[in-house]
Amino acid sequence: MDFQQSIVFGSPSSVFRRLPAFTPMPELTWSTKSTPHPQPGSLVLDSIIYPFGSGYPDGIPVNSLILGDNLAVMSALLPEYEDRIPLIYADPPFFTNRRYPARIGRGEDSRQPDKWRLADGYPDHWEGIEAYLDMLYPRLHLMHRLLSPTGTLYLHLDWHANQYARLLLDEIFGPECLLNEIIWVYHGPSAIRRAFNRKHDTILVYTKSDRFTFNADAVREPYNPNTVKTFNASPRAGFGKVPDLERGKIPEDWWYFPVVARLHRERTGYPTQKPEALLERILLASSNPGDIVGDFFCGSGTTALVASRLGRRFIANDSSWRAVHTSRCRLIAAKSGPFNLLREEHTGFDGLSSRAGVRANAVQLHRSSGAITLSESLIADLDYWEIDPDWDGRVFRSVVQALRPRGKSPIERTLHLPRIASKGTTSLRLVMASGEHMQIDV
Ligand SMILES: C[S@@+](CC[C@H](N)C(=O)[O-])C[C@H]1O[C@@H](n2cnc3c(N)ncnc32)[C@H](O)[C@@H]1O
Repeated sequence: MDFQQSIVFGSPSSVFRRLPAFTPMPELTWSTKSTPHPQPGSLVLDSIIYPFGSGYPDGIPVNSLILGDNLAVMSALLPEYEDRIPLIYADPPFFTNRRYPARIGRGEDSRQPDKWRLADGYPDHWEGIEAYLDMLYPRLHLMHRLLSPTGTLYLHLDWHANQYARLLLDEIFGPECLLNEIIWVYHGPSAIRRAFNRKHDTILVYTKSDRFTFNADAVREPYNPNTVKTFNASPRAGFGKVPDLERGKIPEDWWYFPVVARLHRERTGYPTQKPEALLERILLASSNPGDIVGDFFCGSGTTALVASRLGRRFIANDSSWRAVHTSRCRLIAAKSGPFNLLREEHTGFDGLSSRAGVRANAVQLHRSSGAITLSESLIADLDYWEIDPDWDGRVFRSVVQALRPRGKSPIERTLHLPRIASKGTTSLRLVMASGEHMQIDV
């Protein structure tokens, strides 16, 4: 399909009803609300990942995965990306006042949660709504600044805070820029006994102006068989309007996609992971091939993964190293193009902590065959390892990787170096399921 032909730039009158100038609008205020002033920030390039060697050594990555608080990260991106990102998907903590653990290691029995290994995922814990709004407000401002003039923001929340967020977005974007309020419905078990089961999220969609991308033809879906039957029987059924039954319809503003539940094939173990189908619809509708898609609360990397599959570029960011690690592994497993791994300079975690003495007996290098083998003792808890065959001491070029497979089989113990004329050292980076990182030069 030629997506360019399906771009609709326009201002459907039902959406962009301009309000008379100076119409006073209600505004959300709270005691600690203040005008956001982004601080200058800067990003450090930690590694370039070439999934299974693809693109190495000349491929120039156009995608970025960034570790750090998104306030500082987005500020650091402003000089290069202000008004330049056509689509941002934001899935922040929902103000649930819970902590979400991540399920780590794989191969445990999904039906026996008491046997899972859990680790810190991310907190959604706040002193109160004011603290939450203090987090959200300046970040929405920055997203607005990063969006291109024809860009769209999808803000994903639920009943806990969407009512506040909508007022904030009205203030930042203007109420006339609300394009849709999408209701994502799903089903699943619930402990609730004294109310209806809460099984929907709300995605607020705002455009930066009345010129925006909406690829209607890319997201059409078949009409309900009953509708087709009715129109085939009587073309007058639609009060004079005959739908193009072959072409399909533009989906309603309520969407059903199953959640990524315990047994779902997309499951990474990272908490509150969103289904790829949800992101696919958003990206197809509101971006074009080659566009940059931003996700500054990227979690397990669903947006980045879908962007790479659909030929979009991505900037994905999260403050949790486990989220960034999970995203990296998903992108590698999907054989995405090369991407940069950066960190915001004030992020305490530098990605590495060497373990003294580990080198001597834990790694064997067979120079003639270029094989590197790890000892059994390292393998037991290993989640991921990668090799830079030509480590320059600054930016790690990850050319060969091994990922812990799904199920109970162990991670590969032996990896083979590519045949290159190496000037530097061969260096390994290892990530244990527990979160421990190490780098070993051989
Ligand atoms: C709801 S989850 C996102 C899930 C994601 N959409 C997915 O499909 O996996 C929210 C994420 O926001 C991240 N986060 C929270 N506060 C952040 C901040 N200030 N900067 C960057 N990331 C943040 C959390 O670490 C968490 O991974």
